[in-house]
Amino acid sequence: MVYESLPRTVRILLLGDPGVGKTSLILSLVTEEFTEHVPPKAEEITIPADVTPEQVPTNIVDICVAEQSLEQVAEEIEKAHVICIVFSVEKQETLSKIATYWLPFVRDNCPDDIRKPVILVGNKIDLIDYSVIDNIWDIAEEYPEVDRCIECSAKTLTNVSEMFYNAQKAVLHPISPIYSIEEQE
Ligand code: GTP
Repeated sequence: MVYESLPRTVRILLLGDPGVGKTSLILSLVTEEFTEHVPPKAEEITIPADVTPEQVPTNIVDICVAEQSLEQVAEEIEKAHVICIVFSVEKQETLSKIATYWLPFVRDNCPDDIRKPVILVGNKIDLIDYSVIDNIWDIAEEYPEVDRCIECSAKTLTNVSEMFYNAQKAVLHPISPIYSIEEQE
C-alpha cells in the first residue's frame, strides 16, 4: 500500500447522512456559536495557517446529498486529504450507514493503493447522556483507514475545534507511518 506524502494544505471533507449536522459543525467552528437554521451546504472555507494549531492552511468542504450528485461527492472524496464521516449519536441508523454505505463509498472512490484517513464523528452528544463510542470500535477494526473517533456537539460547541484539529493531525501526524513502497525498496 502506498501512503500519500504530506500535503502543504489540508483539505477536510465532511460526509454523512442528511441531518447529522455537517453544516452546523462547520458554521459552529467558524462563528463559535450555534445557529439553528443553517443553509443545506456551507460554502467551502479556508482557514489561514496562522489560526490553525498545526500552522497549515486548511480547507473545509461540506456536502449535501440532496443538492449534489454522487459523482460530485465522489470528486470531492478524490480531492480530500482526510474525510470526516459524521453521524448523529441519537440516530442509530446514521451510525449503521457508516459501515454499510459511507466507508465502502469512500473506498470505492480512492485509488486502490492510496490510504486516506477517515475520522468518525458522533455529533449531537448534547441530546444523550451516554457515550456510543464503544459501538464504533468494531467499525474501526474492520476499516483500518479509520484513524480516530470523536464525539462532539455543534450545539454546545463541545469538541468541535478538536474534531477539525484531529482531522488535521490525521493528515500531518498519521498514526500509521507515512511511507511509500518505492522508498522502502
Ligand atoms: P444535510 O444538509 O441534509 O446534509 O444536513 P447536515 O448534515 O448538514 O445537518 P445540518 O447541519 O443541516 O443539521 C441538521 C439539524 O440538526 C438542524 O436542525 C441542526 O440545528 C441540528 N443540529 C446540528 N448539530 C446539532 C447538535 O450538535 N445538537 C443538536 N441538538 N442539534 C444539532
